[in-house]
Amino acid sequence: MQKLGNEQSLAGKKILLGISGGIAAYKCAELTRRLIERGAQVQVVMTHAAKEFITPLTMQAVSGRPVSDSLLDPAAEASMGHIELAKWADLVLLAPATADLIARMAAGMGNDLLTTLVLASDAPIAVSPAMNQQMYSHPATQENIQTLSRRGCLIWGPAAGEQACGDVGMGRMLEPMQLVGLCESFFQPKLLAGRSVLITAGPTREAIDPVRYITNHSSGKMGYAIADAAAKLGAQVTLVSGPVALSTPNGVQRIDVESAQDMFDATTSNANSHDIFISCAAVADYRPDVIAKQKIKKTDENNDMSIHMVKNPDIVATIAAMTENRPFTVGFAAETQDVEHYARGKLQKKNLDMICANDVSVEGQGFNSSDNALYLYWKDTDKWEAGEKSLPLDSKQVLGFQILEQIQKLSSL
Ligand code: C5P
Repeated sequence: MQKLGNEQSLAGKKILLGISGGIAAYKCAELTRRLIERGAQVQVVMTHAAKEFITPLTMQAVSGRPVSDSLLDPAAEASMGHIELAKWADLVLLAPATADLIARMAAGMGNDLLTTLVLASDAPIAVSPAMNQQMYSHPATQENIQTLSRRGCLIWGPAAGEQACGDVGMGRMLEPMQLVGLCESFFQPKLLAGRSVLITAGPTREAIDPVRYITNHSSGKMGYAIADAAAKLGAQVTLVSGPVALSTPNGVQRIDVESAQDMFDATTSNANSHDIFISCAAVADYRPDVIAKQKIKKTDENNDMSIHMVKNPDIVATIAAMTENRPFTVGFAAETQDVEHYARGKLQKKNLDMICANDVSVEGQGFNSSDNALYLYWKDTDKWEAGEKSLPLDSKQVLGFQILEQIQKLSSL
């Protein structure tokens, strides 16, 4: 089996990219590059109008294959005929899909190469609509999209925002990297189908007064990467997130919180409806005992000040102690020394099923970085024996998949 989360996540996948005539077609060169970078083979098919927006030469250069654009071209039919092309694809991705292309597909027309291929292919079809917001909201377009969706087409997007024509609203094509993510997710083996995963991520903020707070350096990247991977593996994912500057992964339900107490409330109220709980957040251990109602003023008399702190509730330990509907519970241990010793200690003390340990004193991994290296430890239960696994330095994306692979193995025993 292909390595989960591997950078060659689309290795060997054959994607037929159908481009129709919308301004978002200019993004298809980037989209093709990113798909190929991940190992996909991309065969571009363009409608007549698409060639007004991006040249076949550009698309040929980035895809490394001649672009197909004509149904009645003897030379093209002699190399890979349209029926062969339709059978070649593992996925047909129509991006951008204009209102016109969607209408022709809904009507079952085959009046050019692209629509003929769509009719002749039994590969899954993903449609990424892109058009002016008024055209998108027109009942004809809405009905056509519903028709395609009813027939089993995947509808990817559109997004809302500013449009090339100056309008603002629904109708922007998803960004190339979002489409790449959806392709990756489409081909990912659905190891966690039917399972639900609750994840905490990011730092917490402990208020001192209305304008100040205590926090830490957690970026949330590790927890978000796990949430993204879990969704790609088919799980239903709830992400309880402290304040971070990251966008919500596709298909993930996000609950925003600030303090450890907020995170505790959001997490404990959701725990018993999830199969797996992964506590990735860097929860503040202590919070100011009293939050000043007004901004604390600097005074001429006092050269020092102190804040009395009280302990926050331990979220992961509380969930691990649940007696009914307890999820498979995983914690993290970010340490600067004696990593294994502290991690094993926490595994026992907090009664976790598994712990992911990382040494945050090493440059280039852990807090704020995009990479990490982890050790996984799990303890003996009546279903499995204690064990450990080293996950060497890799992107947090890849590690997210590897952590979930181990969780899936243990939690399905
Ligand atoms: O802070 P500590 O090193 O004990 O964190 C270990 C694990 O406990 C992490 O998974 C963290 O998310 C979790 N934790 C928690 N609630 C706290 C403190 C830590 O869930 N109040």
